[in-house]
Amino acid sequence: MATDRRPDDMVRITTPELADAFIEDQLAALRAQIGDKKVLLALSGGVDSSVVAAMLIKAVGDQLVCVHVNHGLLRKGEPEQVIEVFRNQMKANLIYVDATDRFLDKLAGVTDPETKRKIIGGEFIEVFAEEAKKLDGIEFLAQGTIWPDILESEAGIKAHHNAGGLPEDLQFELVEPVKILFKDEVRIVGERLGLPANMVYRQPFPGPGLGVRCPGAITRDRLEAVRESDAILREEFAKNGLEGKVWQYFTVVPDFKSTGVKDGKRTFDWPCIIRAINTTDVMEVTVEHLSNELIDHLVKRIISEVPGINRVLFDYTPKPPATVEYE
Ligand code: XMP
Repeated sequence: MATDRRPDDMVRITTPELADAFIEDQLAALRAQIGDKKVLLALSGGVDSSVVAAMLIKAVGDQLVCVHVNHGLLRKGEPEQVIEVFRNQMKANLIYVDATDRFLDKLAGVTDPETKRKIIGGEFIEVFAEEAKKLDGIEFLAQGTIWPDILESEAGIKAHHNAGGLPEDLQFELVEPVKILFKDEVRIVGERLGLPANMVYRQPFPGPGLGVRCPGAITRDRLEAVRESDAILREEFAKNGLEGKVWQYFTVVPDFKSTGVKDGKRTFDWPCIIRAINTTDVMEVTVEHLSNELIDHLVKRIISEVPGINRVLFDYTPKPPATVEYE
């Protein structure tokens, strides 16, 4: 049965059985709502939109059209995983748009953090709207709204990330199949829908992506250094049993250079900052202390494998006073 609000007496979904019962109800509700019409979904590869996609593929198959916009600020391997899981394995109707050049050209030379965020958000809506306009007969827009989004928008904490922002001539009815769920429930439902664990249990990743981890004006070479160092960090955390245990971990490559020496020659390169944090509500954050062995290993790998880096620094600042992200 479709419901707009989480019933006060709803049992928290903590087991596969409860997830299966929720999925069965939702599939029936989605089929009743959508009938034989088409649904559009912006599929970022994040937990919420991925679970919505998996649910809709089960409910209405290729009446769902997924659009994955690669803004060039995704982590290493992310667009490839979206294509592999949704197009190849789940047989989704997936439109992949590589808009890297378009985003990076618009961002070139832009140093102000808020302006960067606005450009990324605005351009995203524009690319998505362009794709939507090419399609015929779409009546619904699916979204990965979850229950905390609704509670926070009602409390005036943040605007609910709904269709607001899409041009006026694109009017869709909303489909929000996980909107009464909390995040932990979305993850269990995603697992039962057959999504890979590393997609369902992944750490939070900001909408503006690596753009906020490449402070100041983004250049392709420095962005690549962020992407490569992030991939090494994620690989090492996974190998050392820290994946899924540490809330969030990432690298930042700031826009300044310092002197170093390699193979007897002077270098003048960027530092790479490692940040690993724990939290429950992201309002207050503590720092994860890594073992000395892991620190040494990370330094060695990043220095030898990532072009343009000659120093590795660790950010041991809690929030407050520092926010999690750098911009
Ligand atoms: P801050 O930097 O505000 O980050 O301490 C708190 C948490 O929010 C994530 N974050 C974002 N998530 N869109 C998102 O979806 C964004 O624009 C954004 N900015 C920050 C950040 O990664 C951290 O988990």
